[in-house]
Amino acid sequence: MPDKESVFIAGGAGFIGSHFTSMLVENPSIERVTIYDNFSSGQRWHIEHLKPHLDSGKINVYEGKIENLDALAQQMKGHQTVIHLASNPDIARAVREPTIDFDQGTALTQYVVEAMRLSGANRILYASGSGVYGDIGMIEAAENYAPMIPISTYGASKLAGEGLIAAYSYMFNFSGIAFRFGNVVGPRQTHGIGYDFVRKLKENPKELDILGDGTQSKSYVYIDDIVKAVWTAHEKSQARFDTFNVATGDYITVSEIAAIAIEEVLGKDAKVKLNYAGGDRGWKGDVPIIRLNTDKIRSTGWQPKYLSADAIRHSIRAMVAQK
Ligand SMILES: NC(=O)c1ccc[n+]([C@@H]2O[C@H](COP(=O)([O-])OP(=O)(O)OC[C@H]3O[C@@H](n4cnc5c(N)ncnc54)[C@H](O)[C@@H]3O)[C@@H](O)[C@H]2O)c1
Repeated sequence: MPDKESVFIAGGAGFIGSHFTSMLVENPSIERVTIYDNFSSGQRWHIEHLKPHLDSGKINVYEGKIENLDALAQQMKGHQTVIHLASNPDIARAVREPTIDFDQGTALTQYVVEAMRLSGANRILYASGSGVYGDIGMIEAAENYAPMIPISTYGASKLAGEGLIAAYSYMFNFSGIAFRFGNVVGPRQTHGIGYDFVRKLKENPKELDILGDGTQSKSYVYIDDIVKAVWTAHEKSQARFDTFNVATGDYITVSEIAAIAIEEVLGKDAKVKLNYAGGDRGWKGDVPIIRLNTDKIRSTGWQPKYLSADAIRHSIRAMVAQK
C-alpha cells in the first residue's frame, strides 16, 4: 500500500457515509476521498459541512449510479480502499417490491467488486448487517454462527454480498471485511426508529403509533463508534476475508425507545397515548430479538463510547436540533 491511502465511498452521501467522510478528511494519512452516490436516499445537506474540503479537492463527489460500471470503475481508479455502503435502506419495502434487495443490494455489490477488479482497488470494507443471522431469538451470534438463514430479502442480499466479496477476494487478490452492524444511530439519520418517532411526535404530540408490541429488543450503536470500529478493524485485520459484529453488547426495547423519544421531543411530563399495532415484530422480515457477540471487535481494542440507551438519546437530541 502507498504511504497515503485514497478511499472511495460507494453510497458516501448517506447517513453513515457522511460520517466516514468527516473522519477521513481529518486523517493525515488519507490522500483523497471520493463519494460516489446517486442521491436516492443520500442527501446534499449531508455533505454541506464538508465544503472547505470540497473546495480544497481532498473530497470529490461524483453523482452516478453504481449500476453504471464504466463510470464506477473509472471513478474508482487511483483509490486503494473502497467503503461499500450503497443499498436499499428500507427493509420493509420488499413486501411491495420483492426484487428491490437483489437490484439495490446484491447486484450493487457485484458492480462494486467488479469495478475494483477493473480499477485495481484492493481493499473493501462492506456494510453488511445482523440480518445475515436470521431469526435466532436469544442466541448470541458470534461471527462464526451457523447456519445463517436470513428471513428478509434485505438479509439475503447482505449475505450474498459477503459471499461475493469473499469470492472476489480469493480469486482476484483483494482483501475484504464485512461488518455486521447493530442498528446505527446518530446525527444526520434519515431513517430508523428514532427518526420515525421524532417525526411522528412532531406531527402529533398526543399519540404515537408503534409497530409491533413494543418488546422488540436490539442493540443501538452510535455512529462515531461504528466509524471507529470499522477503521480499527481495517488497520488491524490481516485476513483475506474477515467478518466483525459491531454492537454495544446491551439491548433496548422499542417501548423504552418510545419513552426516550417522548421525553426528548416533548419533555418529561408529556402524556402521549401509545397505539401499539400488535404482533411480535414491526414488519414482515423484521427480526424482533437480536443478540450479537462483540468479543472479536473488542479484541482489537475497540469499545463503544455509548451503550444503547445513551446512543438513542444522543441521536434523538441531534435529530430534534437539526429539524
Ligand atoms: N443504518 C443502519 O442502522 C444500518 C445497519 C446495518 C447496516 N447498514 C448498512 O449500511 C449502509 C449505509 O446505511 P445508511 O444508514 O447510511 O443508509 P443511507 O440510505 O443513508 O445510505 C446509502 C447510500 O447509498 C446510496 N445509493 C443507494 N443505491 C445507490 C445506487 N444504485 N447507486 C449509487 N448510490 C446509491 C444512497 O443514495 C445513500 O446515499 C447500507 O448498506 C445499510 O444497509 C445500515
